[in-house]
Amino acid sequence: VGMSALVLTSVCLVLPAQADEAAKPVVIRFSHIVSGKAPKGQMALKFKELAEKRLPGQVVVKVYPRAMMYEDDQVVDAILKGDLEMAAPAVSKFTKYTSSLQVYDLPFLFDDMGAVDRFQHGPAGRGLLDSLAGHGIRGLGYLHNGMKQLSANQPLLQPADAAGLKFRIMSSDVLDAQFNVIGARAEKYPFGEVFNLLETKKIDGQENTWSNNYTTHFFRVQSHITETNHGVLDYMVITSTAFWDKLPTAMRSELEAALNEAIEWGNQKAAEENAQDRERIVASGETNVMTLTPSQRMQWVQAMRPVWKQFSGVIGQDLIDAALASNN
Ligand code: LMR
Repeated sequence: VGMSALVLTSVCLVLPAQADEAAKPVVIRFSHIVSGKAPKGQMALKFKELAEKRLPGQVVVKVYPRAMMYEDDQVVDAILKGDLEMAAPAVSKFTKYTSSLQVYDLPFLFDDMGAVDRFQHGPAGRGLLDSLAGHGIRGLGYLHNGMKQLSANQPLLQPADAAGLKFRIMSSDVLDAQFNVIGARAEKYPFGEVFNLLETKKIDGQENTWSNNYTTHFFRVQSHITETNHGVLDYMVITSTAFWDKLPTAMRSELEAALNEAIEWGNQKAAEENAQDRERIVASGETNVMTLTPSQRMQWVQAMRPVWKQFSGVIGQDLIDAALASNN
């Protein structure tokens, strides 16, 4: 028997059908709704790079940006059905499944992203990663975008300036209340529709971060943006408990490490890009960026703060207190 025949025989012996099956890489489809250049888009690509580097040939991450695969309101079902493995919707979009995450939507609750970070590293924030467990969804981590600003086709310097205007919001009842309390109207629309709604004037204004205002060109169809920093846009990276728990332990810990690294990198990027995109918007000359005097800002704070009380029973006063305690 020649050498090659021997090799062939042993190869056939050690490659039963099962081993062949096991060699197939695990495919992780990661769907999101923003541009690949937005902080979330970049983080997803960073996760792909790191996961595939740590688990060569064992894992393939496919990233689908700009809602080409699913809108945010579809991802939980898609993940539960096994049509998708990962997504990172804004925490504001889980209202249907849990009330506690709405703590993030309370206006003027967190002073800045540092406070959000401290809250998320504490027991209350970490605990909220499990708030969807009853639905078979596991929160793997948080990713930041940044603080939200208000835009419209007129200056918004005092809460009364917004009265009667219609704003697009994410699907959160707290955000609805935040606009109602100042005499404005709010409507829930998918992110992908916002530019057209603004352009065709079906809505008057919206709230979003500098990054989303820039990368999705809202600043081109709004004459004014007020730097209110009134709320937070943060994401939760989710998967299904069923998918995650059946991964081999070693693979799971490599993926966790890759994701944590990508998130840390992504949070840094988000801070940088929000600052840069603010400057780009100002430099474009296509809109007016307005800042508030301390007393104008105080008027917004006072006008919107009743929303905390309105939702304290639904969200839990303990969570609100923990969030407040992170402001220092
Ligand atoms: C939105 O709908 O405004 C945000 O959730 C978009 C995003 O950054 O995911």
